[in-house]
Amino acid sequence: MNTILVIDSAVSGEASVSKSLVREAVGALSAGIQARIVRRDLGRDPVPHLTEVTLAGVRGEPATAAELAARALSDTLIAELRAADTIVIGAPMYNFSVPTGLRSWFDYVLRAGETFRYTEAGPEGLLAGKRVIVVESRGGLYSEGPAQALDFQEPYLRHLLGFIGLTDVTFVRAEKIGYGPEARAAAIAAATADLRATAGELARAA
Ligand SMILES: Cc1cc2nc3c(=O)[nH]c(=O)nc-3n(C[C@H](O)[C@H](O)[C@H](O)COP(=O)(O)O)c2cc1C
Repeated sequence: MNTILVIDSAVSGEASVSKSLVREAVGALSAGIQARIVRRDLGRDPVPHLTEVTLAGVRGEPATAAELAARALSDTLIAELRAADTIVIGAPMYNFSVPTGLRSWFDYVLRAGETFRYTEAGPEGLLAGKRVIVVESRGGLYSEGPAQALDFQEPYLRHLLGFIGLTDVTFVRAEKIGYGPEARAAAIAAATADLRATAGELARAA
C-alpha cells in the first residue's frame, strides 16, 4: 500500500493557503488507490525546539528522561519518513524562510547514521527512492523579479531534503497571496492545477 506522509507547518489554521493546497495534493495522490496517510501538523502540534536539556537526545548519547524523550520523538519522526513512499510538505514562507515548526522538525530528522552519513566523499543522504511535493505559499513574488535573491525558503528546503537523500522534489508555489483577492485567487487556482498535474504524474510513475 502506498504510504503518504503529510507534513503541515502553517500556523494559520483553517485560513491557511498551504494547508488547503496540501489537502488538494493528498486528495489527488490518493484518488482511486489504497493509501495509508500519516499526518503531522507542526503548526498545531509543534515538536519542541531543542534545548540544552534535550540536545543529547538527538546529537549525543541520551541519558536523562528529557534526552530519552527527545530520542524517542526523533526515532518516531524518522520512522515516519522511512515508511513513506510519498511526502507532501506544506511550507509557507515566514520571514523569507520556513516556519520555525518545520525548522525544528528538521532538527529531529537530520541525524547522522540514520538519515545521512559522512563518507570520505562527503555527506551522503540515506532516504532514497521517495517522492516529495513541497507546497510553498508566499505573500510576495520570489520566483522571478527583484525579490528572487531573498528566497531563503526554496533553496534551503531543497538542500535540507537533498542532504537526507530526498532529491526527487517538486516545488509547487502559490505566490502573491498578499497582493489582493484577485491575485490570491489566481495563485491558488494555478497552484491547484500544478498540484493535480504533479499528482497525476506521480500516480502514473508509481
Ligand atoms: C510570520 C509570518 C511571516 C511572513 N513572512 C513573509 C515573507 O517573508 N515573505 C512573504 O512573501 N510573505 C510572508 N508572509 C506571508 C505568508 O507567506 C503568506 O500569508 C502565506 O499565504 C502563508 O501561508 P499560509 O496561508 O499557509 O499560512 C508571512 C506571514 C507570516 C504569518
